[in-house]
Amino acid sequence: MTAFTFFKDNWTPVIDDYLAQHLADEVDDQKISQIMAYSVMAGGKRLRPLLFLATLNALGKKIEQPEIRIACGIELIHTYSLIHDDLPAMDNDDYRRGKLTSHKKWGEAEAILAGDALLPMGIQWIAEGSQSVESVSIITKAVGPNGMVGGQYLDIDSTNNASVAGDAKFINKMEWLKTGCLIQASVQMAAVYAQASQIEQVKLIDFAKAFGRSYQIYDDLVDVVETSEEAGKATHKDKEEGKNNTLTLLGITKSRQELTDLIDQAQTDLHGLNGETLAGFLDLYQKVL
Ligand code: IPE
Ligand code: IPE
Ligand code: MG
Ligand code: MG
Ligand code: MG
Repeated sequence: MTAFTFFKDNWTPVIDDYLAQHLADEVDDQKISQIMAYSVMAGGKRLRPLLFLATLNALGKKIEQPEIRIACGIELIHTYSLIHDDLPAMDNDDYRRGKLTSHKKWGEAEAILAGDALLPMGIQWIAEGSQSVESVSIITKAVGPNGMVGGQYLDIDSTNNASVAGDAKFINKMEWLKTGCLIQASVQMAAVYAQASQIEQVKLIDFAKAFGRSYQIYDDLVDVVETSEEAGKATHKDKEEGKNNTLTLLGITKSRQELTDLIDQAQTDLHGLNGETLAGFLDLYQKVL
């Protein structure tokens, strides 16, 4: 068992239990609580909360209730982004995390509102867990117009737009914003929270930049490599829907090469840190290489 598998198997149930318990306890209305929990508890990989916790671990910081609250706040925000990404007006998807999407299950207005509810609740948990304005600033920047939502806008705006199909700079920027920013923020919040030294912070941010960039390339590869059953969501649809992404830009062989280069980069960035668990996150990519 690798250090990463050990870490993941240990903390995923803690994250899952916290999410289930606190969505039930802290949301007054039973129905909206149920709609929020449906998507949150549908079985995501918990990559971002695990990344936050693994970064704390690499820095020798103990993980207790406040740290779990921050990690779970990140997952609430990520889940909101998925619910809205799947809406008919966005990617119009029927399946997510192996189940019907929120709007398919509950209706469109209900899905929009569940997403709207998860975002501020995620920020609330991060604020209360961290007691830090800096942490709130990092997360809100990462998911706002200069982060995830900005990237989602560029994605939507460039769908079926042939003029950006060969524009590597544009595609890099869009993919960084929609996916990389939140991943970087998960690491950066941990670095700030655990009061990492300047040298540690630089290494961790460099790692997060490579990992954040690589993650959307991985996701674009999942769309062409995996079956819908394996991915838990519709695959083989990005090209057909007119999406411009790394895959449509470079093709499968060069995308894999780009992913391999970023894995090497991310591993190098961890040198000098206690980064065995963090390096293990990169193993996830083996199934698309
Ligand atoms: C999917 O994220 C959407 C992207 C930002 C690429 P994940 O691959 O982390 O999805 P879950 O959380 O495991 O469902
Ligand atoms: C979504 O990218 C990124 C988000 C911010 C949610 P995709 O649209 O490619 O993600 P999937 O493939 O639907 O999970
Ligand atoms: Mg999308
Ligand atoms: Mg999508
Ligand atoms: Mg995708």
